[in-house]
Amino acid sequence: MENKEQLIMDKLTKICTCKSISRYKIKQVIEKGFDDIEAVRKKTGAGSGYCKGKNCTEPIQELIDNYWEDK
Ligand code: FES
Repeated sequence: MENKEQLIMDKLTKICTCKSISRYKIKQVIEKGFDDIEAVRKKTGAGSGYCKGKNCTEPIQELIDNYWEDK
């Protein structure tokens, strides 16, 4: 269970700035079983913005990796 502060920061932090997708949303999708970068991108639309994923692919991959490390 994440603490309240972390939850607020996750909701405020945009991982995909082009599409305004929060870290909270990305984490939710990963926890639902979308466990690779393409699945997360398809589900959320992350990576389909102006930069075509140049800025958000690495942070999304880190969230996926961290999720599996914590398991
Ligand atoms: S930051 Fe995600 S597509 Fe640009």
